[in-house]
Amino acid sequence: MTWWKKSVVYQIYPRSFYDSNGDGLGDIRGIIEKLDYLEKLGIDVIWLSPVYESPQDDNGYDISDYRNIWSKFGTNEDMFELIDKAHEKNIKIVMDLVANHTSDEHKWFVESKKSKDNPYRDYYFWRDEKNNWESYFSGPAWQFDETTGQYYLHLFTKKQPDLNWENPVVRNEIWDMMKFWMDKGVDGWRMDVISSISKYTDFPDYDLEEGEIGIGDYHTNGPKLHDYIKEMNKEVLSKYDCMTVGEAPGSSPENALLFCGKDRDELNMIFTFDHMDLDRNMDSEIGKWSLRDLDLVEFKETLEAWQTSLYNKGWNSLYLENHDQARVVSRWGNDKEYRKESAKMFALVYQMMQGTPYIYQGQEIGMVNTDFDIEDYKDVEIRNAYKDLVLERKLTTKEDFMKAVHRISRDNARTPMQWNDSSNGGFTSGEPWLKVNPSYKTINVEESLADEDSIFYFYKKLIDQRHDDDMITDAEFRLVDKDNKKVFAYERYLGDKSILIIANFYSEPVDFDLDTYKLEDYRLDLSNYKDMVADGNKISLRPYEAIMLKNY
Ligand code: GLC
Repeated sequence: MTWWKKSVVYQIYPRSFYDSNGDGLGDIRGIIEKLDYLEKLGIDVIWLSPVYESPQDDNGYDISDYRNIWSKFGTNEDMFELIDKAHEKNIKIVMDLVANHTSDEHKWFVESKKSKDNPYRDYYFWRDEKNNWESYFSGPAWQFDETTGQYYLHLFTKKQPDLNWENPVVRNEIWDMMKFWMDKGVDGWRMDVISSISKYTDFPDYDLEEGEIGIGDYHTNGPKLHDYIKEMNKEVLSKYDCMTVGEAPGSSPENALLFCGKDRDELNMIFTFDHMDLDRNMDSEIGKWSLRDLDLVEFKETLEAWQTSLYNKGWNSLYLENHDQARVVSRWGNDKEYRKESAKMFALVYQMMQGTPYIYQGQEIGMVNTDFDIEDYKDVEIRNAYKDLVLERKLTTKEDFMKAVHRISRDNARTPMQWNDSSNGGFTSGEPWLKVNPSYKTINVEESLADEDSIFYFYKKLIDQRHDDDMITDAEFRLVDKDNKKVFAYERYLGDKSILIIANFYSEPVDFDLDTYKLEDYRLDLSNYKDMVADGNKISLRPYEAIMLKNY
């Protein structure tokens, strides 16, 4: 079954969604209370970021018990109730499968580090020597452990040791755990850094200067990656009617088909990073913290490559925000006078492509980035990078680093959901775990629901489009006026039918000539302005104006 092709997914970051008991953290009962809201938006699937037991070094992406819900989020019974109540509303639940690594407090690791002959020793990678791999969260990817005098591998923090998937016992543990949740009604998985589960087990050094460490091709797409995913599909996924999306750093439109190609029996789709990395110099010494302006033509060509390469062969996931990315209106749009226009423009542009769209909590009301001081950020990635790049290695200044934090860091997306204009944006009656964005006074759910012209209702219309018009799911994609530096325009076409999406990406007005298309053949189906201004075949686009034209 391919229900996921007509589905729109809503991502919930539980600790920041809604706090039902006043402890300052969102929880599962809070999600249950807000199901009516999600039903109103019209989404089909909820993807829940991790809710399992965890010391929370990386906000739950460090799991210490896969089969129990973290007590501050609730109980297993709460989770089962959420699954049932969501199902009653025809909303499916997808959980986060974080199986590249566990927490160092998981009993497997606690055992593993005890001795070299412990039965759990081979659940992780232990070596006498470390190589020059860097962790994604700063510092070496190997941590020395005194008990046995060896190093263990951790691609993320040292509290997130990497599991050894070479060991069939580990794989079976994962399959059993997946079945445990799926037997409770879970409808699928978002798979955390799935492209890293197979390692180059000879751990080859990168070509670097003595003493340097780095991140490169060996961090992803290891030799047995697809064997493992195929095995997972055979042992688990094929037995359920489920949806799967793999987070796949290091993927290209070509190797995406290895994951989601029609005949591959692996996953339904993957998340690419290609379009999200275009506003930073990933190769620079300070990696993602080195900013550059987004080049619209490059952005269009990147998305085009994914749209065309996967057409009829695989399936795309469509996203601009998640818990690891900043708020798109602040990052690439205008979060001041054109906040509403630019939020709707992005929505129209990405949602009307082919694939399964993901909406990250708060995106549907146009939430914006933060400009906190360094002390107010909680994210381990920000904190480690600040210490490493600014304080210790002095590779950048605090000022430049903070500019990057305010533009692209993960905590921008993790501030509590803004429900209304009461204290803490109605998120909690207690002390929120991370500061609420002060914008809650004007940007909040209550305001959005009361305004029929809001971003929320615009998203709702886009979701209806995906449900009602097969062109959105089936039609082919081509860029229109590809080299235009101001306008993102594309066509979805199939047989005689054609949809044109035309969007002014910036705050200056711009004229757009339809060229070989005839405006008289089309009607305006959706827009973020009240009308359309055109003269002959020339459309005058106002700031961030985005329109959808249909010839049928
Ligand atoms: C993924 C998650 C991110 C997490 C990391 C380690 O990239 O999306 O939030 O920190 O994996 O699990």
